[in-house]
Amino acid sequence: MKSDRRITNLVITGFSGTGKSLVAKEVARGLNWNFIDTDDEIVKQSGKPIAEIFRQDGEARFRELERDTIRKACQQLQTVIAIGGGAIVDPQNYELLVKTGLIVCLEAKPETIYERLFREAAGSPETEVRPLLANDNPLQRIKQLKASRQPYYANVDWTVHTDDLNISQVAEEVVRASRLLSRAHPHLNPLPSRERKLGSQLKANGDVACVVETVTQSYPIFVGYGLLDKLGDKMKQAALSGTATVISDKNVFSLYGSRVGGILKEAGFEVNSFVVPPGEGTKSVDYAIKIYDFLVEHRAERDDMIIALGGGMIGDLAGFIAATFLRGMPWVQVPTSLVAMVDASIGGKVGVNHPEGKNLIGAFYQPNLVLADPQILTTLPQRELTSGWAEVIKHGVILDEEFVQFLESNANKLTKLEPELLTRAIARSAAIKAQVVSQDEKEREGKRTILNYGHTIAHGLEAATQYKRFLHGEAVAIGMVGAAKLSQRLGLLPSAAVDRQQALLRKFGLPTGFSGLGLAEITRAMELDKKVKEKAIRWVLLQDIGKVVIRSDVPQQDVLAVIQGLAEP
Ligand SMILES: NC(=O)c1ccc[n+]([C@@H]2O[C@H](COP(=O)([O-])OP(=O)(O)OC[C@H]3O[C@@H](n4cnc5c(N)ncnc54)[C@H](O)[C@@H]3O)[C@@H](O)[C@H]2O)c1
Ligand SMILES: [Zn+2]
Repeated sequence: MKSDRRITNLVITGFSGTGKSLVAKEVARGLNWNFIDTDDEIVKQSGKPIAEIFRQDGEARFRELERDTIRKACQQLQTVIAIGGGAIVDPQNYELLVKTGLIVCLEAKPETIYERLFREAAGSPETEVRPLLANDNPLQRIKQLKASRQPYYANVDWTVHTDDLNISQVAEEVVRASRLLSRAHPHLNPLPSRERKLGSQLKANGDVACVVETVTQSYPIFVGYGLLDKLGDKMKQAALSGTATVISDKNVFSLYGSRVGGILKEAGFEVNSFVVPPGEGTKSVDYAIKIYDFLVEHRAERDDMIIALGGGMIGDLAGFIAATFLRGMPWVQVPTSLVAMVDASIGGKVGVNHPEGKNLIGAFYQPNLVLADPQILTTLPQRELTSGWAEVIKHGVILDEEFVQFLESNANKLTKLEPELLTRAIARSAAIKAQVVSQDEKEREGKRTILNYGHTIAHGLEAATQYKRFLHGEAVAIGMVGAAKLSQRLGLLPSAAVDRQQALLRKFGLPTGFSGLGLAEITRAMELDKKVKEKAIRWVLLQDIGKVVIRSDVPQQDVLAVIQGLAEP
């Protein structure tokens, strides 16, 4: 997004059926501002309904009228502008809108949109049946069209998820967002800028969430909603310059690649990108070699840098390249999945898989900075998101009871990605991991072991199902239930705490048991017999929520009983 923005308006965008027009009207009323609906303006000026313009004059003509209307609207001050669902896709419109307005996108699931449009069309016979619904498979059409616009909807200042909100609740969210963002845009006044407390370490608009301080390197972790736009600035502040090679997977790159490229170029970096297929299979020596070839071909130098733009897979792979190419290059992590933001991007473990085992080849190599923008999570698939919450909850359960309370009280809003709470949760979770790894950078002193809470059984479940059935976080959630039950069985933990953790995991939609898997398969995958005999399993257990203990003397029969107990009938 542009840095030379002179924001005086609020722009509401989003797909049809997200309530743009009604919300914009209500926001305008609340702020005592003007209101413009660009579709209404077009109808007024051309004297015919939109569907008729499309039919008689064609879409190109409609887009022309739309550009003209948007240009005029952008000349206003203190105006809430509702724009048509496709307007933002046009680069000329976007450029103008972003320069003069804070853009808020209203989101809704395709099913919700279908429901709303259908109801609207049925309820008022004089309403033009929207072209969208005049289709054999309207839901499918909505899904397709929405997916094609998603990259543009992601490129905004703020997103409000409207599925479970009514119009005035959405309007309230928009006003709240504009207040939060107004500090960065003084021309937006006179929006009353109410000071807000955003948690002890975090202010709005992306302050440092925490710092990792290891023996080899100290670096900041920035967490901020919409912070991606400042990536170039933050990199310059970290004294980076030269050519940035962005390494990303196809899913993430198609959504954010051009935006990141633009941000970096605007900050004065040369930019190259290397895009790999998504999925764990890419985290391999084979792909590492392809990337080395690319860097050689582009004459990358030691002062250039690698940007890891993606989930944990990309972080591990790109970090491994950074650690090894030219004996080490600077690198920046831009985590895009929840797992990557709170876990994988912190701690400097980088590497690739070997056919015989995950993460067998790698290094400890800390990045120069980490920048996490929770807004990016709005495009993360639901199952990936849910899985990520397991590590967030884990961080609370092992070290921070107060954070567990925060997660309990706000689960509902957090799962809906409420921007302010989400940002706080990620910042806190990242800070907990940063604190642990700062004390034990290379996993030598055992302090880092507590991060393995829930992971002993999780690895068993993952390996027994060839890493195909569970996402990592899902297995960890089940493993955490196991670890808590084991703690209770050994008389360390009261049953109320076991129930409390279980309830929290469920609130975030995580599994707490499994079915269709034999005990023998799991224990074999855990190499339980061998490890128990050698006392090689260091169980991370709980004494209380927020308090861990490590035990190496856990009897095998207790472990077996607990795993058996996790099997759901
Ligand atoms: N280094 C560490 O300390 C550490 C810690 C935990 C996990 N890991 C590693 O991280 C990997 C798992 O990370 P992950 O869960 O992020 O998996 P991932 O990187 O494979 O991402 C999961 C999926 O989500 C997609 N995706 C990511 N961000 C998106 C976004 N914002 N919008 C849309 N799609 C998006 C990806 O393309 C991919 O399909 C594993 O390889 C694991 O070994 C490393
Ligand atoms: Zn994990």
